[in-house]
Amino acid sequence: MMPAGTIDEVRTAIAQARQAGKTIGLVPTMGALHEGHLSLIEAARDRCGFVVVSIFVNPTQFAPGEDLAAYPRTPQADLAACEARGVDVVFMPDFTQMYPDGCLTEVTVGDLGTTLCGAGRPTHFAGVCTVVAKLFNVVAPDYAFFGAKDFQQATIIQRMVADLNIPVEIVVCPTVREPDGLAMSSRNAYLEASQRAQAASLYESLCLAERMIRQSRPAPAEVVAAMRQLLAERAPDGQVEYVEIVDPQTLKNVQTTQSRVLVALAVKIGPSRLIDNIVVDAAD
Ligand code: PAJ
Repeated sequence: MMPAGTIDEVRTAIAQARQAGKTIGLVPTMGALHEGHLSLIEAARDRCGFVVVSIFVNPTQFAPGEDLAAYPRTPQADLAACEARGVDVVFMPDFTQMYPDGCLTEVTVGDLGTTLCGAGRPTHFAGVCTVVAKLFNVVAPDYAFFGAKDFQQATIIQRMVADLNIPVEIVVCPTVREPDGLAMSSRNAYLEASQRAQAASLYESLCLAERMIRQSRPAPAEVVAAMRQLLAERAPDGQVEYVEIVDPQTLKNVQTTQSRVLVALAVKIGPSRLIDNIVVDAAD
């Protein structure tokens, strides 16, 4: 496995792999790798002969006052995990490698970036799209792997590559969870024991929504109210940022739960802003 700090190194290694006829897979991450990230690496390994993992805590997707400085950084453990999973190249650029002259150009994906997480983090998805577009231009992967845990992010990236004719296939992999249902996240590391116990309520509320929708297809507002009540009871230290039921393609609010819907929420518990979601199809 080759750790690479520069774009030139990555491009040279990829050119060789391409010459050898290998399919290139990219797994973009911000490091502090956990089982969720590792599941993407395994999916890439299954499908691609040459796997590149990028590790870059991208400042442009954090707003002032967010957790950029505190974001966990575990480069040695990350390299060991990548090595153990048979990754070919770990691209770990520093800030000046990615943004030598700052970045005047920004990629935004219209309304998709302003709902759900975009409402509370209005600059976030422009930072994500711009850095992912840059990574796609550096690596030129055949496949790129994203987690359903960040459903809105995966949706936006799919739309970006379609709109900009970027020749990469986006593969969205299922959310990996702790035994109590909490979605794995680098930000779970910020939680104290009592907050960690309360954090399981996000998934409990999603399971409640799924049961309600399957049983009687109630109006979205009724489901949201029940979820909020469960969160208030089970996570008294939680501050709900949003609980929404939307169309999985447009990410806009739906009027009924008759067809396929995305149930998504963001809750701040102590220092961690946690997100989760599930897709429910009452017809299944
Ligand atoms: P990061 O939060 O490190 O996540 C990297 C990838 O891992 C994303 O595609 C995310 O959806 C996926 N992932 C995280 N937790 C997961 C879980 N529990 N199960 C399955 N997949 C999971 O997302 C980012 O980094 C950044 O925004 C990035 C795309 C790298 C751009 O900077």
